[in-house]
Amino acid sequence: MKRIGVFTSGGDAPGMNAAIRAVVRQAHALGLEVIGIRRGYAGMILGEMVPLGVRDVANILQRGGTILLTARSQEFLTEEGRAKAAARLKAAGIGGLVAIGGDGTFRGAMRLTEEQGVPVVGVPGTIDNDLYGTDYTIGFDTAVNTALEAIDRIRDTAASHERVFFIEVMGRDSGFIALDVGLAGGAEVIAVPEEPLDPKAIAEGLLESQRRGKTSSIVVVAEGAYPGGAAGLLAAIKEHVRVEARVTVLGHIQRGGSPTAKDRILASRLGAAAVEALARSTGGVMVGEVEGEVAFTPLKEAVERKKDINRVLLGLSRVLAL
Ligand code: F6P
Repeated sequence: MKRIGVFTSGGDAPGMNAAIRAVVRQAHALGLEVIGIRRGYAGMILGEMVPLGVRDVANILQRGGTILLTARSQEFLTEEGRAKAAARLKAAGIGGLVAIGGDGTFRGAMRLTEEQGVPVVGVPGTIDNDLYGTDYTIGFDTAVNTALEAIDRIRDTAASHERVFFIEVMGRDSGFIALDVGLAGGAEVIAVPEEPLDPKAIAEGLLESQRRGKTSSIVVVAEGAYPGGAAGLLAAIKEHVRVEARVTVLGHIQRGGSPTAKDRILASRLGAAAVEALARSTGGVMVGEVEGEVAFTPLKEAVERKKDINRVLLGLSRVLAL
């Protein structure tokens, strides 16, 4: 293999640029050329490609978003679309790919490897941290710190007005962000999709904490924890208790911004490891970090197996929220 491709796909995550930089520079060290594919699978089908040299990735380590742009492609979900993409890769002389993204990206990558014979190594880049085979995904730490800063600010106003705030964080199917942000921000309640929710019990808990002398509370809600997110949960709770509450949806603010040191280091390490793996293997794996070591997991397992949230930390958050 003389030339590899790199692309970002799905939701952007802080640290994707640091991963692109690591891919390009590690490839250079191994004597491989790198082609950047723009707009994920959509751009791959259209042949949107740019050569990436070591200087092209200067000054991006600290930048959020992705210089390669990202997209979600409907056409790539069809076999015809994937065949078009594979033909573009072949025409460009690309012998293997580094795919930076989340579970949707890796489902596509799996098909590209199995069906079209293109070796792909996945690098976990998503703020959700919901991939099996890595303790952390690139972007998660930054997203947690961004949301935490917002929650600290909201706590000031919650305390001043003696109110309850329902704060919605990202995580359609997973509560990793909600749990870490909730624990670090001292939330009174953390609502995650992994646990059944009882609005009546939450209402009673809020009343009980008022009786104990609390004048304000923070309820952190993962967007997928309850139908309608934080607003839906508040409406359900209001059926049981009258509460002076406000809803704040943090939304895409969690996806932007300069990556933390932790995310930059993870991205640098995994981006480089992905190129090394591609140079010596047939792909079909995701490179992650498990207990401080680089680890490889078949893409199929990374997307199909479920990584659970840390139940011990969830229990601890309840003990400490007295
Ligand atoms: O997967 C990352 C993520 O930010 C999720 O947490 C969220 O549910 C989703 O993407 C939002 O997607 P979009 O930016 O397409 O609205």
